[in-house]
Amino acid sequence: NWSMDDFIADAIADIRTTVGDQRVILGLSGGVDSSVVAVLLHRAIGNQLIPVFVDHGLLRKNEAQQVLHALGDEFGLQIDFVDASQLFLSKLAGVTNPEQKRKIVGKEFIDTFAAEARKYNDVAFLAQGTLYTDVIESGTDTAQTIKSHHNVGGLPKDLQFKLIEPLNKLFKDEVRELGEKLGMPHELVWRQPFPGPGLSIRIIGAVTEQRLQLVRDSDAILREEFAKAGLDRTVWQYFTALPGIHSVGVMGDERTYDEAVTIRAVTSIDGMTAEYAELPWEVLGKVSKRIVDEVSGINRVLYDITGKPPATIEYE
Ligand code: XMP
Repeated sequence: NWSMDDFIADAIADIRTTVGDQRVILGLSGGVDSSVVAVLLHRAIGNQLIPVFVDHGLLRKNEAQQVLHALGDEFGLQIDFVDASQLFLSKLAGVTNPEQKRKIVGKEFIDTFAAEARKYNDVAFLAQGTLYTDVIESGTDTAQTIKSHHNVGGLPKDLQFKLIEPLNKLFKDEVRELGEKLGMPHELVWRQPFPGPGLSIRIIGAVTEQRLQLVRDSDAILREEFAKAGLDRTVWQYFTALPGIHSVGVMGDERTYDEAVTIRAVTSIDGMTAEYAELPWEVLGKVSKRIVDEVSGINRVLYDITGKPPATIEYE
């Protein structure tokens, strides 16, 4: 007769016994798993938890602020916020190869997190939002990885933390239930998947501040209209991306030569396969009109109607 309340009580007792009066560091990404671990640990050990949020500058519009507000202001977590966006942007400058983008973001993320972790000399544990499915997928490998969403290798040798993985017996839906039990906001607990390399893989070609702005602003409009239409509850993942197409348009009396943006919206169970979502024309029309009206630099909106396979959900 297992209940989530029992789970919480047991987990908190376990964490307290394990940690004692030592300190625990955690990489906060804004995703569901690391946020739930953070709130659970904070409930168990308060400010012995050091949540580190590395902002790689590739997040969606207002995402960092939302996480800081939800976990910092509402839950009282003392978040160590590291704004590394200029560093990431400079390392990504001119890089167009998708795998290279992933590698750069993964490496810089680890390096930045490690540099921050070294500032605390009394940390004994690293907490991670590893799920049961991650445990199965990676066998019994307990190497120190900063979890899957960043797809990276281990921390450097001089940072030898013991691991705490309180979610490693839970499935994703149970983590969401746990988050709700802990009183976390709905938007955070039901957040759609977001890739570790962030917007860098939603911009085909080189990542620049200006192109990030285009994808961020158009994506924010899409999300707003999806929420208004209730589609945020039925569509599994939805976002805009820059396919790298420039095309001719006309705005007022002016000829434009601007970027196109594509809308990706899919239904899926686990991301392994996906169907394009059948969206109401009014919503598509409204999103398109708002994007071209409000996002200067976009003059064309496309809708991607390809499943996975043969396409992938992301563009890179
Ligand atoms: P694809 O594009 O492979 O995406 O069909 C399947 C799911 O995985 C997410 N995704 C990633 N997540 N790092 C991540 O943490 C990545 O490099 C990455 N690439 C894709 C994607 O958002 C989708 O939910």
